[in-house]
Amino acid sequence: MTTLLYLKTSANGERSRSAQLCERFIQQRFDAQPDTRLITRDLVTQPLPHLGAEQWDALRLPASECSAEQLAYRHLSDALIEEFESADTVVIALPLYNFGIPSQLKAYFDLLARAGVSFEFTETGPKGLLRDRDVYLIATRGGTLDSNDDHQIPPVRQFLSLIGIQRVHALIADGLDLSPDSREQSLLAAHQRMAEIA
Ligand SMILES: Cc1cc2nc3c(=O)[nH]c(=O)nc-3n(C[C@H](O)[C@H](O)[C@H](O)COP(=O)(O)O)c2cc1C
Repeated sequence: MTTLLYLKTSANGERSRSAQLCERFIQQRFDAQPDTRLITRDLVTQPLPHLGAEQWDALRLPASECSAEQLAYRHLSDALIEEFESADTVVIALPLYNFGIPSQLKAYFDLLARAGVSFEFTETGPKGLLRDRDVYLIATRGGTLDSNDDHQIPPVRQFLSLIGIQRVHALIADGLDLSPDSREQSLLAAHQRMAEIA
């Protein structure tokens, strides 16, 4: 039995192309490995609290100094880290919104990053404490991006590296809003690539 964690992040519900691509990819994994346990976390319909001063302290103060609300945020962080650790494979739907990642995914990362729990500081820099595993980023874009302007995939790779994840595979479907032809070609190429990976 393997566990697959699927993070949904599109604001576009069932019309989301990143969700449609992820769900096809996950189905292909199921066909290959039927004993897969799926955990779906929809970060848009079940949003997580964003980081503020209260939340900042909640992850740093001793538990005895935390308010009930801060303890709840801390327990949420513990539960999300435990859920992530339980997954052998992670699939992240990654739409491009205003040149960056969805803010709901950023709120999730802010809860996953815990000094002393998911990473630690060493003399040579931060070191990830979570076990490495395959993480698939299924990225969608309306237009196209020059690699120097890519604030979608590199920040996610960098974050995952912080907590110990190096096996990150990115699949990009871009040009989705440029023209019907561009969309069709891009989705076809993405489907072919997914079939190869799965
Ligand atoms: C609020 C918003 C901002 C967007 N910003 C960009 C952008 O900066 N660059 C781009 O290429 N496409 C942009 N798009 C287009 C989306 O990336 C594209 O529609 C993609 O399919 C979104 O993924 P989804 O279908 O899974 O939601 C934006 C779309 C929305 C709704």
